[in-house]
Amino acid sequence: MSSRTIKRTFRAKPTVEGAGVHLHRIFGYGEVPRCDPFLLLDDFSSKNPTDYEAGFPWHPHRGIETVTYMLEGEVRHEDSMHNKGVVGAGAVQWMTAGRGIVHQEMPNPEKNPITGFQLWVNLPRAHKMMSPRYQDILPDQIPETEHDGARVKIIAGSWHEAQGPVSDLMVNPLYLDVSLEAGKTFLCHVPENDTALVYVIEGMAGVTAPKDQIASGTAALLERGSTIEVYAAEKSTRFLVIAGKPIGEPVAWYGPIVMNTDEELQQAFDDLEAGTFVQKA
Ligand code: CO
Repeated sequence: MSSRTIKRTFRAKPTVEGAGVHLHRIFGYGEVPRCDPFLLLDDFSSKNPTDYEAGFPWHPHRGIETVTYMLEGEVRHEDSMHNKGVVGAGAVQWMTAGRGIVHQEMPNPEKNPITGFQLWVNLPRAHKMMSPRYQDILPDQIPETEHDGARVKIIAGSWHEAQGPVSDLMVNPLYLDVSLEAGKTFLCHVPENDTALVYVIEGMAGVTAPKDQIASGTAALLERGSTIEVYAAEKSTRFLVIAGKPIGEPVAWYGPIVMNTDEELQQAFDDLEAGTFVQKA
């Protein structure tokens, strides 16, 4: 067993996105390709509706998946495939933009506070132009498993024989929400060369060695190894574990569109202008 040590940490930085949403970016454009297959992680948690009520009105995506996980509050969404719904507390929306989707994501200021995260997962070249789709996962579809002081919600991937509900994904990610009691250690086996991150939501989490404590609002990108090991010292802690196999392809990224080459990016913006971005099946 080789427990993964910390390669580097990312402190969530205040960022303005959408129509003026004040959120915290944990990693993004500047970190490519360190977190491959992941592109971006935002924490849009806030106790103040003026931070988020402007929302993310109609905007396009191509070449990626966006994963919204809500702990509190709700986000209303609507898209170019005529889907419409609400991602409520405890729910997940795993949206595959593929060749193109136009959608809006509007947090509801009446459901304050809001606690939630959006992860962008890159798509391999072979799947960038796949048909768009999304998987809406309700809270009771997310298995919760307890083992030795760790209570784990499994959104994607598996832990202790429990399998997450998000299926048929292109990069086989692991996405766990872990609540860990004081004095306990969480262990999770992952493929040796997968990219793995821990993002602390509450309290302090120790990664592998006692000296490596990270605080809430901080993510740790981990070195290679077969085991993710996180412990809680004198207080309980809650954190996300995100891991996946690196894609290892070039990244051409502008705004909400992520392709492999500048030509493909240009094509996406030409398609937007020509009105051919969203294609009928
Ligand atoms: Co979006």
